[in-house]
Amino acid sequence: MSDRLFIFDTTLRDGEQVPGCQLNTVEKIQVAKALEALGVDIIEAGFPVSSPGDFKSVVEISKAVTWPTICALTRAVEKDIDVAAEALKFAKRSRIHTGIGTSDPHIKYKFNSTREEIIERAIAATKYARKFVDDVEFYCEDAGRTENEYLARVVEAVIKAGATVVNIPDTTGYCLPDEYGAKIKYLMEHVDGIEKAIISTHCHNDLGMATANTVQGVLNGARQVEVTINGIGERAGNTSLEEIAMIFRSHKECGISTNINTTKIYGISRMVSSLMNMPIQPNKAIVGRNAFAHSSGIHQDGVLKNAQTYEIIDPKDVGIDDNAIVLTARSGRAALKHRLHVLGIEINQEKLDQIYEDFLKLADKKKEITDDDVLVLAGADRSMNHHIKLDYLQVTSGVGVRSVASLGLSIAGEKFEAASSGNGPVDAAIKALKQIIHRQMVLKEFTIQAISKGSDDVGKVHMQVEYDGHVYYGFGANTDIIAASVEAYIDAINKFVK
Ligand code: KIV
Ligand code: ZN
Repeated sequence: MSDRLFIFDTTLRDGEQVPGCQLNTVEKIQVAKALEALGVDIIEAGFPVSSPGDFKSVVEISKAVTWPTICALTRAVEKDIDVAAEALKFAKRSRIHTGIGTSDPHIKYKFNSTREEIIERAIAATKYARKFVDDVEFYCEDAGRTENEYLARVVEAVIKAGATVVNIPDTTGYCLPDEYGAKIKYLMEHVDGIEKAIISTHCHNDLGMATANTVQGVLNGARQVEVTINGIGERAGNTSLEEIAMIFRSHKECGISTNINTTKIYGISRMVSSLMNMPIQPNKAIVGRNAFAHSSGIHQDGVLKNAQTYEIIDPKDVGIDDNAIVLTARSGRAALKHRLHVLGIEINQEKLDQIYEDFLKLADKKKEITDDDVLVLAGADRSMNHHIKLDYLQVTSGVGVRSVASLGLSIAGEKFEAASSGNGPVDAAIKALKQIIHRQMVLKEFTIQAISKGSDDVGKVHMQVEYDGHVYYGFGANTDIIAASVEAYIDAINKFVK
């Protein structure tokens, strides 16, 4: 008999806090439904008091999802808890996740308080949340740097006050795996009433140890893990769901099982990456493009003789199917619909017809349509409501000549045109654009995603544009890389010019 590990997904809360990764409510529902199909136990749907958008998302996700528990984050503040309870009212199973900083730096500098006062506030928040829901999780923020003896007192107090789950976040990603494991062990051994609650891990990846720390937490008694798809999250991110699921699936000797249907991992990983415009590093464990690519001669030879020589995971177990039908201009709607389904996207006939039309245009330009292309096509209507749209772009460039660009924009239906020269085709096009949009904008980052399938591939461009002290993120995808760059710039501008 293996021990059940609960998977608490925070892609839509901690993951979504990453600048530039914000999703709208429709996109969040799409991710939540895919998380449900993946088999996660708890979905942290947002921080309702933080914005009307977060509130609405928690409401809509609660309505859209059936069996996972829906969780809403709060501070240890009555108003936050009131708003969270209101947002959760449609959830079939609901949880309030409240908490406060427990490390000395948090107590002293953030709250200008004392250890005793923090315990009082923790008890009060837990009791208050229990008035609304039966399932209350308490987080001891910065538990990673909280002295174990004091942490045990906080954990004991909140369990006595009614917490059903206690979260031990390594908020700053500071702990060593041994240290984090020992912390969980200490709590398991020193907290009176620990059997009445589940201890949860919540590890950040600042030193690249989030997964190792989470594993140590579980091996020492934690039975819930807080994770995100692709390990996204603030700074260096959170523990990645797919790594934890596959570690315990591969290491049966640990005696830990989860409810995750691992064959859905690949689809949801691509979906989240695409919706959040957040490329996955090629060497990312489990879901990176190269995760199963054996390039050295010795490895290739071994894998061809028997995959077990170098592969510890069958790619099919995470939903990667080498025999998947390749999509080309001759593929029909059914094949496209099936590929979208594998990638976790369910669409109606009208949307399928619309994507299929774009699919045929793209298939005319390139031989094979990849999963990334399909995801871009599925998300293409994200720019339909743009205030500023690119009508046309013409660029002349070459070696030994200065590049020249002319472009046409449509701004709320009105047409504008401009031309400029520049230090290259993108520079020329952006200079022309700035003649129409008179704002002090600075291009801060410009990433062209690797093109992997030949010179006819769709180029994907991510940009960060600074305006008025804020950074705005833009994304563009086009078989013409200059057009993709201009589209990304325009996408970013649309976030601040309304
Ligand atoms: O990292 C952290 O401490 C958190 C808490 C709010 C749970 O995200
Ligand atoms: Zn966190």
